[in-house]
Amino acid sequence: MGLFRIQHCDFEQKFSMENFDTEHENEWEHTGRLQEVAWQERYEYEASLVVATIVANPHIKNVLEIGSGPGILSQKILEKYPELNYHLVDKPFAKKYFEEHDSKGTFFVKDLSNGFDKDGLLDSYDLVISNDFLEHVYNPHAIIKTVYELTHKESVFFISNPNWRMAHQYVYRGLFDFDNFIYLLYTHNFKLEGYYGSNLKTPAYPRISSESLLPDENLTDWNHYMIFKHRI
Ligand SMILES: C[S@@+](CC[C@H](N)C(=O)[O-])C[C@H]1O[C@@H](n2cnc3c(N)ncnc32)[C@H](O)[C@@H]1O
Repeated sequence: MGLFRIQHCDFEQKFSMENFDTEHENEWEHTGRLQEVAWQERYEYEASLVVATIVANPHIKNVLEIGSGPGILSQKILEKYPELNYHLVDKPFAKKYFEEHDSKGTFFVKDLSNGFDKDGLLDSYDLVISNDFLEHVYNPHAIIKTVYELTHKESVFFISNPNWRMAHQYVYRGLFDFDNFIYLLYTHNFKLEGYYGSNLKTPAYPRISSESLLPDENLTDWNHYMIFKHRI
């Protein structure tokens, strides 16, 4: 029996860990990109999707945003709905920016890379938002399981994932292909209720086999914005 070796592969270059940020303590120490018009427009668009979700689910009062960054999206949502009880979870520098900008809501610093401790949080939230976050952590299972525990039958789990076509960073690459991700959520007792397209487009790579549920016109959406609810 022969041992096959991969020839001519510079693993260090191919799988560079330099930008692999889940364990970086200094994330959000530099926040220059937040001033860019394109980013502001993107947050505006995302806020409009969350607002549409709240309009469709008027019982929403308690909101939890995980991997919120410094809270830009939250402030746009709170401008429209200042009465929401809005909790955010991310890293220390994100909280620093949040506080320096006199932001509304309650910010919790937690390390979510391998698990999700519920200390200080409410027993239950009506809306949980994960905006381009789950693909960054080592243990999405622990996060999704905990979100299930922190939600009820009428709660909404709003998740945005980057399309692989925009070459984002992932811990588990194929897990975030459209069908695979919906299956992952299904195994954690969440069912897809709906999907919003993106206002930005990726390069046009062909469909892959794990995207059978994705409509043609959404193939090059920069992000997939998904609404999940408990299935049991
Ligand atoms: C791509 S950013 C998205 C941020 C924000 N949701 C937004 O849309 O601008 C991923 C976020 O996940 C957070 N994150 C990554 N690893 C984390 C960890 N181990 N614990 C807590 N937050 C983490 C980062 O700090 C960052 O804010």
